Amino acid sequence: MYLQRRNRILRQSPAIRSLVAETILTPNDFIVPLFIDEGTNIKLEIPSMPGYYRQSLDNTVKEVKELWSMGLKSVLLFIKCKDELKDNRGTEALNPQGLMQRSIRAIKDACPEMLVMTDVALDPFSSYGHDGIVEGTEIVNDATVEVLANMSASHAQAGADFVAPSDMMDGRISAIRSALEENGFTKTGIMSYSAKYASCFYGPFRDALDSAPGFGDKKTYQMDYANRTEAIKETLMDVQEGADIVMVKPALAYLDIIREVKNSVDIPVSAYNISGEYAMIKAAAKMGWLNEEKAILETLTSIKRAGADLIATYFAKDAVRLIS
Ligand code: PBG
Repeated sequence: MYLQRRNRILRQSPAIRSLVAETILTPNDFIVPLFIDEGTNIKLEIPSMPGYYRQSLDNTVKEVKELWSMGLKSVLLFIKCKDELKDNRGTEALNPQGLMQRSIRAIKDACPEMLVMTDVALDPFSSYGHDGIVEGTEIVNDATVEVLANMSASHAQAGADFVAPSDMMDGRISAIRSALEENGFTKTGIMSYSAKYASCFYGPFRDALDSAPGFGDKKTYQMDYANRTEAIKETLMDVQEGADIVMVKPALAYLDIIREVKNSVDIPVSAYNISGEYAMIKAAAKMGWLNEEKAILETLTSIKRAGADLIATYFAKDAVRLIS
């Protein structure tokens, strides 16, 4: 044969492949989700997330120091609220001495440079396990947004660097931005879960925090997975309302959305490699059906290639070990 172009030239050795690789993972890509519980010296493995734990604050602080030493620079905090503190309005979420607020302070004290991002949503605090206030069978929007804005100011007050609203109520980004401005928190960022889909892949996370909805589902606020244009609408509105970073969630079944969002906005895009995506790889690896390490790197690289500037992932520590 006489070929003008031989594409395999650029694939023939590890050296040339790494020279021309278009997508390189680094520790700077990752946000580490942490599940925090009351008590001391607690480290509980989440059954549907083998190798991932819910930990008391003392252990969480140790973990954060370790993450920092590995080059990981941001954590995303979720807390497990005690059942007796849950109510319909998520009152405990505003408690200045609540577990979230104490966690933010303890982590910033122990590791001041670590970027602390906080989940802003009612579900861990809601007696109904919903992301908003329930009236009858409805999740009411505007009253919920007021709580979310106050919750954000409370997290900022405790020292959070970013608040991350994950609820999908309408108008919450502008309300949160106003609450931050009114209270003088001009350095606090907003990472908005802009295109968050109603997904079955959140199951293991809801086990971790005991936050599954008590009735119905989340389809009146989270997006329909059939939709693409709607993700752009949601995201552009959040940018307009003052988001600093937008997010697509889940990641793996939504790589097309990540790319389209990336092409549509002028701010960083994050993607959440969620609990069900973690569980799938863990389960297949346990059965001996997949090579776990290769699956982790291929998955995370694909999410970055799709357009994610940041990836929230339970595989962050594994990934850092694998790429260093
Ligand atoms: C709730 C919230 C969820 C996740 C992050 N924040 C679950 C839900 O919406 O029901 C899921 C994260 C994961 O599955 O890893 N506000």
